Amino acid sequence: MCGIIGYVGNRNVIEVLMKGLSALEYRGYDSSGAAIISDNKTKIYKAEGKLQNLKNLLNEKADEVKDSHVGIGHIRWATHGVPNLINAHPHTSNCGKIAVVHNGIIENYKELREKLTKMGAEFKSETDTETVAHLVAFKYKETHDLKEAVTLAAKELEGAYALCVVHQDEGNKIVATRRNAPLVIGIGDGEMFAASDVPAMIEYTKQAIYLDDNQVAVLTNDKIELFDENNKQIQPKIELLPWEPVSLSKMGYKHFMLKEIHEQPNVIRNFLTGKIHTAKEKVKLDEVKLDFEQLKQMNRIQIVACGTSLHAAMVGKYIIEELCNIPVDIEPSSEYIYRHTVTDEKTLVIGVSQSGETADTLTAVRQSKARNSHILIITNRPDSSMAREADSLIPVDAGIEVSVAATKSYIAQLTAFYLLAIHLAEIKNSCDNDKLVNLKNELLILPQKIELFLTKKEKIQKCSRMYSSSKNFIFIARGLNYPTALEGALKLKEISYINATGYPAGELKHGPIAMIDETLPVLSILMDGKVYEKVLSNAQESKARNARMIALTDVDSDERLEELFDFVLNVPHVDELVSPIMAIVPLQLLAYYIAEFLGKDVDQPRNLAKSVTVE
Ligand code: M6R
Repeated sequence: MCGIIGYVGNRNVIEVLMKGLSALEYRGYDSSGAAIISDNKTKIYKAEGKLQNLKNLLNEKADEVKDSHVGIGHIRWATHGVPNLINAHPHTSNCGKIAVVHNGIIENYKELREKLTKMGAEFKSETDTETVAHLVAFKYKETHDLKEAVTLAAKELEGAYALCVVHQDEGNKIVATRRNAPLVIGIGDGEMFAASDVPAMIEYTKQAIYLDDNQVAVLTNDKIELFDENNKQIQPKIELLPWEPVSLSKMGYKHFMLKEIHEQPNVIRNFLTGKIHTAKEKVKLDEVKLDFEQLKQMNRIQIVACGTSLHAAMVGKYIIEELCNIPVDIEPSSEYIYRHTVTDEKTLVIGVSQSGETADTLTAVRQSKARNSHILIITNRPDSSMAREADSLIPVDAGIEVSVAATKSYIAQLTAFYLLAIHLAEIKNSCDNDKLVNLKNELLILPQKIELFLTKKEKIQKCSRMYSSSKNFIFIARGLNYPTALEGALKLKEISYINATGYPAGELKHGPIAMIDETLPVLSILMDGKVYEKVLSNAQESKARNARMIALTDVDSDERLEELFDFVLNVPHVDELVSPIMAIVPLQLLAYYIAEFLGKDVDQPRNLAKSVTVE
């Protein structure tokens, strides 16, 4: 979490930093700040709350820094210390000459703080980052060289960091380094950039260097000097970014989330293009670097992911087991990494992550890699840290997702799992061909059905208004839509702050049913298929306790539904196997309209960040 940016060059520094931070706002938005070298002084500007507050401040102060060519900026998602002005970055040394912006967590900050305090440092904030500013200052006293000072300081840091550091006495440069946190350097013509992510700089350059752990870069306007972990100067490897300047336009939609929900049919279409030609042909998934012999060696699959990606993984387990007859375990990455997992070269480990930077999933993937497992990564960011760990990489190509609540990336991950499962089944010959042909056909016609549904949102809007005052919400489903219930509940709680929970419908009577009374909405996911009748009878149990009854269904000929439910949300009929893709769309919209009706900040909900780069 947190986003950092650095700029050296002749453009308007404030403009570059603010545009860059806007593009990084998905990483955090509780406070922000900048350090700008001007008149040989390190000048610090900070604001609480949204980035707009810093922009307003810098507009007022523009004259103070108009001669500047060097600046660093930060957008914060608080880990250590509440989001206030003192804890906002940049943090400075006591002499005020050195300024630091940081993404990550310094795990040994308490020990360092104690040590540095004894040495005379006076701490102002509660942050872990301030230790870096003081540490660099002490090293600078020894070396009188910013690069050396940062290099020595970094050796004493434990944890994760991407850092940009400036010093007013070396006011033409930025020193940048990283370990376990993303940092990309942009090479321009007479200008250099450093940022947590590509969108912060793509407007200005397409040439980039991805720093490896422990490398240190010194950026001046006309050159980059790069040093490896032994402090030996090395030749930077410049890559051409396959990016166009990112359009951050809402295209007429009120929020990015709504726009991204509407992009979903095309996300599926794009993903399928080139991979399924006709239903009768085999899936073409060259991204998977496993042949029949290698696959024969694999005796299990483990999938690691967090949040929405974990829900996609749960659907993935269901589909892979159904088609490929391989046991699949799924686990939240944060649990996986702190226990003894039985993982070896016979395990295919799949990491799923929209951002490709989620710290827990990245650690899980690295742990499995160290145990010689084949690593398959499903991500929306083929340029991410996780993608670089992959033996097989499936980019889901959903396009940049701005809203913190994941929608189109989820649909894209689901599509990836269907294709992967079909592909593995075709290699292994583990499934009846008619079933695979039917599934491919269903996938091909799905975008149209979702489009059709998206033209009829009035009922969802009405339902959202009716239930928006609820304090709690329950979603129930069974089988491969149990993850849909979890994802529907996650969407609702993260953007409306309503306490929403997803349950396997059969579990309701084993405890949760105690909560049901006439105030509680219970939304039953009733997609046509083998568990339809079962969910219906579980819904009866809620009705008998006077719950407020909502159904989501693709069945339109069952008279019992109108009798049992107060509200029936219909979607076009789909094959049971692909129903998680269809069923999630109305639930995304339900969450969206409830949050919008309640006046919540839909795209940037409180306390969240899109990319969770701390464990
Ligand atoms: O980038 P990742 O997919 O690894 O992120 C995982 C979760 O942090 C993410 O899905 C989160 O749950 C979203 N806010 C869900 O909308």
